[in-house]
Parts: sequence; C-alpha cells; structure tokens
Amino acid sequence: MDVAGRVALVTGGATRVGRAISLGLASAGADVFVHYNSSAGPADELVAEIESMGLNAAAGQAHLGDLDAAETLIDEVAAALGPPSILINSASGFPTDTITDVTPKDFRETIDVTLGAAVFLTKAMALTLPETTEGAVVNVSDVRTARPYHDHLSYILAKGGLDTFTLAAAASLAPRIRVNAVALGVILPPPGEDDDYVAELAAALPLERAGGTAPVVDAVMHLVQNHFITGEIVRINGGGHLV
Ligand SMILES: NC(=O)c1ccc[n+]([C@@H]2O[C@H](COP(=O)([O-])OP(=O)(O)OC[C@H]3O[C@@H](n4cnc5c(N)ncnc54)[C@H](OP(=O)(O)O)[C@@H]3O)[C@@H](O)[C@H]2O)c1
Repeated sequence: MDVAGRVALVTGGATRVGRAISLGLASAGADVFVHYNSSAGPADELVAEIESMGLNAAAGQAHLGDLDAAETLIDEVAAALGPPSILINSASGFPTDTITDVTPKDFRETIDVTLGAAVFLTKAMALTLPETTEGAVVNVSDVRTARPYHDHLSYILAKGGLDTFTLAAAASLAPRIRVNAVALGVILPPPGEDDDYVAELAAALPLERAGGTAPVVDAVMHLVQNHFITGEIVRINGGGHLV
C-alpha cells in the first residue's frame, strides 16, 4: 500500500514513540493528524514540522477514556485532512496496579484508553473510509502480554485485549482494511525513569540493547505498506522472548 497522499491518524502521536511514527508516516508522504491528550505544545510543534515537509497536518485533543470522544475523533480528522485510511493506535497509559489494589474506576479507565479507544477508532475509521479505499490499522501493544507484569495489571490486561482485538478486527475487516500490531519490549524508559533503568533491562536481552524508536517505525511502516499481511503481531523486543 502506498502511503503517499494518504491521511494517517496517530493516537498519542505528539511525543516519544507516537511522535516517531508520525514522522515516519510523514516522511513517506502521508498527511498526519496528531492526536494528543495533554501534549498540546509538542503536538503543535510536530504539526509545524510536518507542514515544513510540504505535507498537510493537524492536531486534535481527546481523552481516550471517553469512548464517544474517540469515535468522533475520526470525524475531526476527516474534516481537517480527509478520511483517514491509516490508523496507528499508540496512545496508552502505564498505571501501576496489582490484583490486590486495583480499583474498578482505574481499571475501567485503563481498559478504555488502551483497548476501548482502539476498538471505537477502528470502527469509526472503517465506517468513514470510502468503499473503494483500502486501509491499514496498526495497534501498539506490549510483548509482556505473554509474560504479564504483576504490577501493571490493568495495563497488561488491556494490551492482551488489544492483541485479541487485532486478530478479530483483521478477520472482520478483510479484505479492505488490514489490522496488525507491534508488540514492544524495551524501547524507551517509561515516563519518569532514566536511561539506567533501560540499560539494566537491555543487558538481559539477547541483542543486549534497547530498541529506541527507529525499529518500531520500521516495523509499523512495513505493516502499513505490505499488502499481504493482516492479523499479525510483530515482536520488537531484541529477542527478549528467547530468554
Ligand atoms: N516505551 C516503551 O518501551 C514501550 C514498551 C512497551 C509498549 N509500549 C507501548 O508503545 C506505545 C507508545 O509508547 P510510549 O512509551 O511512547 O508511550 P507513553 O509516552 O507512555 O504514552 C503515549 C501517549 O499516550 C497518550 N495518552 C496517555 N493517556 C491518554 C489518555 N487518557 N487519552 C489520550 N491519550 C493518552 C499520551 O498523550 P499526551 O502526551 O498528549 O498526554 C502519550 O503521548 C504505548 O502504547 C505503550 O504502551 C511502549
């Protein structure tokens, strides 16, 4: 699938991994809608950077714990840039909770932001996309769904749901819309942690390094562009599943 001339929506697209993906799509010629929650300044700066590449870009705010707002975000994208045919679900919280302290309120919010928003954005994208246009969705998941954290319980349950949603949506939306996922390992330090935190985790990996954002962007671009892959979840984890 040729990315040039398409409209892409990247959730959590203003900072860190999402920002790198937004720029990767723009570098391939896509117009990009940068969704943000609290990062208004970085979102505006990124829009200006993408526009300086000769492309169209826009930014929009939504708290993705509000699933109605998630659904209407697609209308906002269509009004600003045209109907999106590329959707990258990268926004996520990373709350700390365990089976003995998780609360219903926090559990619901994490599930909504990390899983529910991807479901309703994909639904709205599928309904908005012109019938003759093909589309691609990439969900940003976490390799730890296979070996769950005990201290990020609601997060990893949401990501596990996102993996299953990737398969379900790929089957439902074929042949017109392909749905894939990337499952990330040690990429960047979580917000609030420093490089030492990542270095310690990276040392235990077969590839003995943290990924950084470039391998994530490469994989996302491949999944968007390759017209014969759907329902795939690609690990970007330095071989962490081997140890
Ligand atoms: N970094 C890693 O090593 C790693 C490892 C495994 C999986 N992942 C996954 O990869 C993706 C990107 O990682 P990251 O480290 O770049 O993530 P991040 O910095 O923790 O968060 C990504 C974005 O999510 C948005 N977000 C958070 N809560 C939101 C809410 N309630 N409503 C709407 N947006 C919200 C934030 O937007 P604002 O900034 O605008 O508030 C933020 O830019 C995430 O899905 C993460 O779970 C990352």
